[in-house]
Amino acid sequence: MDSISDKVKKIRVEYEDKPLNIEDLDTNPLEQFNVWFQIAIDAEVNEANAMAISTISEEGTPRSRYVLFKDIVDNKLVFYSDYGSSKGREMENNPSISGLFFWPELHRQIRLEGVVSKTSDEVSDNYFASRPRGAQLSAIASSQSTEIEGRETVEDRIKELEIEFEGKDIPRPDNWGGYAIDISFWEFWQGRRSRTHDRFIYVKNDNSWEITRLSP
Ligand SMILES: Cc1cc2nc3c(=O)[nH]c(=O)nc-3n(C[C@H](O)[C@H](O)[C@H](O)COP(=O)(O)O)c2cc1C
Repeated sequence: MDSISDKVKKIRVEYEDKPLNIEDLDTNPLEQFNVWFQIAIDAEVNEANAMAISTISEEGTPRSRYVLFKDIVDNKLVFYSDYGSSKGREMENNPSISGLFFWPELHRQIRLEGVVSKTSDEVSDNYFASRPRGAQLSAIASSQSTEIEGRETVEDRIKELEIEFEGKDIPRPDNWGGYAIDISFWEFWQGRRSRTHDRFIYVKNDNSWEITRLSP
């Protein structure tokens, strides 16, 4: 079998030449995100709402993983998780966060940075109530990011909970809910031919956004 180095050397994707100019951009980055998100949905981008988030560990190490972006509330971008998970503890300690979308079908990347806080109980309850029962039970049964003996630990707990909650609504556990990112920086990136990509950043100054083109 080829080495990892040999395999990766064979990968070189040329991006089609779709220009992005400052005139194409909405003055409000959330509106711009809305426009691009719709295009991603229309293009059937795989899991267009998958967003890599990076948080900072107590030791100062940046740590990344994907979550699903689920809503915009008060102009903040919302995702859901276990408040007691590794990322939950990291955000408790340091609310700085970055997010990253990559839509390969469109050769587009969106970066964002901001400060995260927990959503209200009402927002978390409403979303939890909308989840399929299986996902609700899983949120109760799994203490995310803790060590377990095997999958049975979670599966057996789910079976117990199915009996406990048969015919009843499942309440949201206290340790599970939403996070809302108050975004102060966005970057919209359009891949172009021969790596001459178009990049625009939005930086928040008081209540207005300054847009700047960056070199690829
Ligand atoms: C596409 C994708 C979407 C995911 N969405 C979520 C999510 O919305 N919330 C979540 O807690 N974990 C989600 N996960 C799992 C996380 O990436 C991660 O494994 C988990 O949250 C534990 O992370 P932590 O130990 O850093 O807290 C997703 C994973 C993938 C690949």
